[in-house]
Amino acid sequence: MNENSSFLVLFLAPVKEYLADDQVSEILINGPSQIYIERNGKLEETPARFANEAQLKAAAVNIAKSVDRQLDEMHPDLDARLPDGSRVHATIPPISRCGTILSIRKFKKEMLTIDRLEQFGSIPHEGVLLLNAIVKLRKNTIVSGGTSSGKTSVLNALSGLIPENDRILVLEDASELQLQQKHCVYFETRKPDKNGQGEFSIRDLVIASLRLRPDRLVIGEIRGGEALDLLQAMNTGHSGSMSTIHANSPLDALSRMETCAILSGANLPLTAIRMQVASAINCVVHTMRLPDGSRKIVEIAEVLPLENGEYRLRSLMRWETRSVAPDGTVTGGFLLGECPTFRDDAELLHLELPEYR
Ligand SMILES: Nc1ncnc2c1ncn2[C@@H]1O[C@H](COP(=O)(O)OP(=O)(O)O)[C@@H](O)[C@H]1O
Ligand SMILES: [Mg+2]
Repeated sequence: MNENSSFLVLFLAPVKEYLADDQVSEILINGPSQIYIERNGKLEETPARFANEAQLKAAAVNIAKSVDRQLDEMHPDLDARLPDGSRVHATIPPISRCGTILSIRKFKKEMLTIDRLEQFGSIPHEGVLLLNAIVKLRKNTIVSGGTSSGKTSVLNALSGLIPENDRILVLEDASELQLQQKHCVYFETRKPDKNGQGEFSIRDLVIASLRLRPDRLVIGEIRGGEALDLLQAMNTGHSGSMSTIHANSPLDALSRMETCAILSGANLPLTAIRMQVASAINCVVHTMRLPDGSRKIVEIAEVLPLENGEYRLRSLMRWETRSVAPDGTVTGGFLLGECPTFRDDAELLHLELPEYR
C-alpha cells in the first residue's frame, strides 16, 4: 500500500484495492452497489460493494469530518482536498437520488511532461515545436477541453517549457501542478469555514499575486469572475501566462472566458469584454479524451483580432479522427493547419517551427 492511499483506506475499506493501485486514477462510487474506476484512461465497473447505504454515508461523513467540513442535510455537498492530495467530491440524498455519491481523484505522484505526452502519441513532434515557440514567445495560452480530457496535465507540460529565469506564480483551487522550475511560488485558495468565513478565492489570489512581481501566472483553472482579472493581467504586461478552462472547442473556450468575465460583476459592455478576451488570449490548446480512452491535444489555435465583433481563430495543428472501430479503437492523424502569425518572431529567436507550406 502506498503512502498516498493510507489516509482514505481508513474510511473506504471496500475500495482499498483501487486506492493502492497506481494505475487507477479515479474511483467513482454511485451508491453502495455501483462502483466504477478509471484505469489507464478507461472506465470499468468493479465488483466492489459497500455493505449498505448507511456504511457508505458514514464513510463520506467521516471523510468530511476529517477535513473539518460538514456533510449533512444542510450541507449535502462536499468538495475537498484531503491531506494526501487526493480530491473527494461527495453528495448525499436527497440531492443525489441513488444514495451517497462519492468520487475520488487520486493524487498523481508524477505529472506528465511534454516529452511523455509525445511518447504517448498525445501530440506529434511538430505540435511540441509549436507549443515550445508559443511558450518561449510569451503567448498567453488557455488549455481547453472537457472534464478529465487532460487539461491540467497539458498545462503542467506547457509550464515545463517556461525558461528557468522567469518568476512563476502558480495559483490553484486544489494543488495539482508540479512545475519543474526552481523559481516557482505556489498558492492555494481556501474555502469558507463552517461559519462561512475566511474564504480566499482564486480571484483574491490573482489580485494578490500581481503585487508579487510575477513574470508569469499559471492558474489551475478559470471557472468564474477571476477570468476578468486574469485577462487584465494578461493585457497589462504579464504575458506568457496560462490557465485552463472547461470548453468543447477552442472557439467555445473564448466564449467561456467571456461568460466568466461577465460573472465578475464588472459592468463592462460585451464588446469591451470581447476585445479584452481577443487581445489577452493569444493561443488555445484544446484537449480531448477519445473513445478509446486516449487523451490527445486535438488542436492548437491562434487567436486573431476580432472581426465584426466575432472571434477568429487560426488553426495551426489539429487531430483528425478517420474511423472508430466497434471496440473504440481510434485511427486518425495530426494535420498541420495554417502557418502561425508568429513565424518571423520565432525565427528571430531561433525557435524551430514545423515546416509549413
Ligand atoms: N495524454 C495523456 N495520456 C495519458 N493519460 C493522461 C494524459 N493526459 C492526462 N492523463 C491522465 O488523465 C487524467 C485526467 O487528466 P487531467 O489533466 O487531470 O484532466 P482535466 O484537467 O482535463 O480534468 C489524469 O489521471 C491524467 O494523469
Ligand atoms: Mg483539471
